[in-house]
Amino acid sequence: MVLHRAKDYNDMSRKAANVISAKVILKPDSVLGLATGSTPEGTYKQLIEWYKKGDIDFSQTKAVNLDEYKGLSKEDEQSYAWFMKTKLFEHININLENTYIPNGLAENEEAECTRYDKLIKDLGGVDLQLLGIGTNGHIGFNEPNEFFQKGTHCVKLTDETINMNSRFFESMDLVPKYAYSMGIQTIMGAKSILLIASGKAKANALYETVYGNIRPSVPGTILQLHPDVTIIADEEALSVIKEKGLLK
Ligand code: F6R
Repeated sequence: MVLHRAKDYNDMSRKAANVISAKVILKPDSVLGLATGSTPEGTYKQLIEWYKKGDIDFSQTKAVNLDEYKGLSKEDEQSYAWFMKTKLFEHININLENTYIPNGLAENEEAECTRYDKLIKDLGGVDLQLLGIGTNGHIGFNEPNEFFQKGTHCVKLTDETINMNSRFFESMDLVPKYAYSMGIQTIMGAKSILLIASGKAKANALYETVYGNIRPSVPGTILQLHPDVTIIADEEALSVIKEKGLLK
């Protein structure tokens, strides 16, 4: 794991966008594993800006997303499919047919999970996987558990995650309780991983992810076993690591 320090959210976003754009420039037909949530929004904004300036070409790039809420259609404004469309895809020249996300409305859960795993395999796996981190250490929606889930699965979200997600919904009742998520094996199968973290709320999860014992109760800790993980975190997200004297 290589830990890079960013001053603040904007600095983190610019640095992360630099890593992603370098990947796309060096390998235009890269398979990017993408994330949703507040953390990557700034990164996507920066990528859009550079695309508009003519610095990046996504025409050959493919994108597979980490997760999607169960029960939401891709036209639902709260779905992750909608998030990706409005926050990134419709502003760049990626071919929408080359963008993939689990189908929240799939009738058969198991078949949907198998389909998504096969799809990623058929794409040749993920070249660069972008990850955020949950306050409870989740990656994708691999929630704290007694074991690491291997493939794509449908997960019951924890109360902590439901609470965190509720900020995007009008009422608590509307927050989905289940989601499809890539599994740990799929995430760990990515050739390289870029984890971004911003804000004090992530400081403990980030400390555990980098220095904690590897355990499924803090899913992010498994990343210590991956050979190519870059972490870009801002000063607030690094605060616990700094308090423990592990970084000056
Ligand atoms: C989203 C995802 C989640 C988020 C995490 C952090 O696709 O997989 O693991 O990365 O919940 O969310 P934010 O960035 O909103 O703090």
